[in-house]
Amino acid sequence: MHGSARETLAGRASSAAGNPERMLGEGPPPAPAGLKPEDLAGNSAYWTRVAAAYAVDRDVIPLDNGNWGVPLRPVMRAYHKKLDFVSKQNSYWQRRFFRDDLQLVLGKTADLLGVSPDEIVFTRNATEALHALIGGYGRLRPGDQVVYADHDYDSAIAAMKWLRHRRGVEPVCIHLPEPASRSAIIDAYAKVLEQYPRIRLILLTHLGHRSGLVIPVSEIAQLARAKGVDVIVDAAQSFGQIDFTLPDLKADFVGLNLHKWVGAPLGVGVAYIRRDRIEDIEPAIGATGADVSGIAARSYSGAIDWAAQMTVPTAISFHTEIGVANKAARLQYLRDLWVGEVGSNPGIEILTPSDRSMYAGMTSFRIKGRTTSANNLALAERLLNEYGLFTVPRTGLVGGACVRVTPALFTSEDDVIQLANAVSALAQ
Ligand SMILES: Cc1ncc(COP(=O)(O)O)c(C=O)c1O
Repeated sequence: MHGSARETLAGRASSAAGNPERMLGEGPPPAPAGLKPEDLAGNSAYWTRVAAAYAVDRDVIPLDNGNWGVPLRPVMRAYHKKLDFVSKQNSYWQRRFFRDDLQLVLGKTADLLGVSPDEIVFTRNATEALHALIGGYGRLRPGDQVVYADHDYDSAIAAMKWLRHRRGVEPVCIHLPEPASRSAIIDAYAKVLEQYPRIRLILLTHLGHRSGLVIPVSEIAQLARAKGVDVIVDAAQSFGQIDFTLPDLKADFVGLNLHKWVGAPLGVGVAYIRRDRIEDIEPAIGATGADVSGIAARSYSGAIDWAAQMTVPTAISFHTEIGVANKAARLQYLRDLWVGEVGSNPGIEILTPSDRSMYAGMTSFRIKGRTTSANNLALAERLLNEYGLFTVPRTGLVGGACVRVTPALFTSEDDVIQLANAVSALAQ
């Protein structure tokens, strides 16, 4: 029993690089060697086999895969086993082996993110990570200014506004240009940095959940740094949907999750703080333990779903086996397919630009002139009720509401073509 506790949980995790779940024969097929991501992206035979490795209900055609990701079957199986194990072992595993197992999982996660394990702490989701960073950012003084944009995530915006009461600062909201271009976005932030001399902190959302727009975070972060301004990056939608590692963002503070695009079970987020900046984020309320100077004290959740955290190595090994560049190229290819069908229709507005560095799989659209929340709720309802296509209406952009379409790796070409046909018919 003593030995088996180690073998069953950490043992599996530690050998996850060799992917023990693969032996059970249910994983996606390895990507064919020698094909570039952009050449593999349209290889329906390969992606049909990948799709078969997901257990997905197809009562409707699921095109809202930005809320969270369906994990692969073998990941879910590993999760169920670990949940069983943690439940059966109860406190014995948690008190005696959890710390070592956590270090192992943190190590694999840090490798994937391109950072060090002592720079990350697990949270339950990206929201909690962003709250820890925004709420804990300790360099603000009354009268300072903090900046966010209409494109940011609602709960992160709420946290930026909350700083007014908590820290006595002035939150400033900017509207990102629509249609967007790299230079227009960079100019917008450069202008803000000139215009508001008391800015201390900017919230940047790498891939926005309202339209799917990807902004040039590293350029903006460098502009900000040159003026002594920090950025907190929301990478909840971008990490795993786009091929990058955290140092590419040139930001000292990042919040993300592993349950959208890396394929972990629901309930795993990460807060990253560059090692020499840890003291700039205050310890979380209620953080206990000796080391309040370390990263672990920057978020504190008490008892949580440890089985989900312990399944992360299995998710990571499949994520890297398929290859994040291949995933990113496939998702972008599916987006391009439906946008290619409807994008030239003068009645339809596509909310991501044609610059391939400024979108990934997720993209929103609206029917020209139909900008209210009610218009877009009705549009998403018609897509569902008349065509069986499940999308999601989004509000909050200054240009108006829209409908968001997000394919996943189990989405087929036919799914997105059906969407394009439905959108064209409804735009008439
Ligand atoms: C841009 C963005 N930020 C943050 C979040 C929150 O992520 P989580 O569900 O992990 O809290 C989301 C979720 O949809 C998001 O789209």
